[in-house]
Amino acid sequence: MEVIILNTPQEVEELGGKLLTEQIRKKRDSVLGLATGATMHGVYKYLAAQELDFSAVKSFNLDEYYGLGANHPCSYHTYMRQHLFDRVNIQPENTYVPDGLAQDVERHCLDYEQAIEQAGGIDLQLLGLGEDGHIGFNEPSSSLSAGMRIKTLTPMTRRTNQRDFPPGETMPMHVLTLGIGNILAARRCVLLANGAKKAPAVQAMVEGPITAMCPASALQQHRSTTVIIDEAAAAFLQLADYFRCVYEHKPEWQRGK
Ligand code: GLP
Repeated sequence: MEVIILNTPQEVEELGGKLLTEQIRKKRDSVLGLATGATMHGVYKYLAAQELDFSAVKSFNLDEYYGLGANHPCSYHTYMRQHLFDRVNIQPENTYVPDGLAQDVERHCLDYEQAIEQAGGIDLQLLGLGEDGHIGFNEPSSSLSAGMRIKTLTPMTRRTNQRDFPPGETMPMHVLTLGIGNILAARRCVLLANGAKKAPAVQAMVEGPITAMCPASALQQHRSTTVIIDEAAAAFLQLADYFRCVYEHKPEWQRGK
């Protein structure tokens, strides 16, 4: 696991955007695994501002609220259209987001996984981090080899994400999410986290034991994961100085790899 500590959230989001840009420049038909959440706003803003050709890119989002249709203002479909898909020349038929209204959930999950496989697997999986250590919507106690499925959100995540819903509207309790097994199958993972609230989860993910109590800790077993965090999110890392030193002395040719 490579850990990059930067001064500000803006720098974190910009480096995330740069890594995605390089991925698309290197392979114009890249298969991207995409995430939502506030941390990704700056990443997509950066991406949309580049002269990038998305015409051959395919994307698969990690998760969606179960019960919300694609046009619901708080759905991740809407989020993705607003922040990225409507701003670049990606083909709508190449963008996949789990269907929050799927009737046959098991069938839908299998079809979604199959579509990823048919696309050749995910080249770069972008990830945010929940305050409870979730990635996608794999909450604590999730199987570390699970595939895509329906999950129940923890009260903590429901409280945190309630901010994305207008007052009076209760957010869904269930979600569809790719599993940790799907995430670990991506060729590269890039996880971004900012702010003091994420510091305990960052510490558990990077330096704690691999445990279902912190699903993101499974990334310790992934062969190519880059974690990019700001100083506030790095506050509890014992090895913070070592990570800074490694990044500072990273050979020029290795940067962005
Ligand atoms: C949601 C998403 C996650 C994301 C997390 C962090 O729970 N399902 O994929 O990583 O939010 O969000 P934020 O960046 O807003 O802190």
